Amino acid sequence: MLASRIIAHRGCSLLAPENTLGAMALTKKLGVDWVEIDANLLGDGTVVVFHDDRLERLTNGRGKLMDLGIRDIAGLDAGSHFSQTFQGEPIPTLDQMLIQLDRDQLGLNLEIKCYPDFTPKQIVMPVIASLERHWKAFDRLIISCFDTQVLTLIRQHKPDWQLGQLWEALPSDWQTTVAQLNAVSVHLDHSTLTNAQATAIKQAGLDLYVYTVNDKVTAEQLFAMGVDGVFTDDPPCFSYFLC
Ligand code: G3P
Ligand code: MG
Repeated sequence: MLASRIIAHRGCSLLAPENTLGAMALTKKLGVDWVEIDANLLGDGTVVVFHDDRLERLTNGRGKLMDLGIRDIAGLDAGSHFSQTFQGEPIPTLDQMLIQLDRDQLGLNLEIKCYPDFTPKQIVMPVIASLERHWKAFDRLIISCFDTQVLTLIRQHKPDWQLGQLWEALPSDWQTTVAQLNAVSVHLDHSTLTNAQATAIKQAGLDLYVYTVNDKVTAEQLFAMGVDGVFTDDPPCFSYFLC
């Protein structure tokens, strides 16, 4: 297994505002050793760590990320929607996030969001550049995406980087896709996974990670099926796996 049994989803989004530096600091304190975050694009080409294509759900700002640049999001509050304890948490750039995670020696599943507002190339090139600037341990990095074109583009530039194909549900042609990508892992919505699929994925020599699992009983059933690790919003629920 390349990652970990427990991967903090968007940091640990039941305990802290998702995808923020504060959430990652808390995750580290909790003893989690891998995190999942979402890379997203602003209109000026800056890559930020943010799940949605609009600001409203997670900040005190308004509008689409593609209509905004780094100056427009500076000073926005991405913490108060969660609690006053996190008031003033900024939207981090990917550069800022990588510096903190690398310093804390966390493993990283970097999920690249690819909203229809931009092309795969527009986000892939700055993501690669950011990782080249600020990431050192590529053995503890898996890049994933729902969009196979995004992963194909990364593979063209980076033959050695570890890629994971994300699907909600496993498609019938999954083996062709993972072979073409030379992917190391498959990432699925846990509720769609069958025993036969889990067995086939493991027999193909791939890691299998599933989202989003916030209770122990479900996690134990999934581990028994062969799942390697779960993305969870609530890592303390799995304290027996933490350092
Ligand atoms: O990477 C697993 C999971 O995060 C994918 O869905 O919407 O939570 O980013 P989402
Ligand atoms: Mg995600």
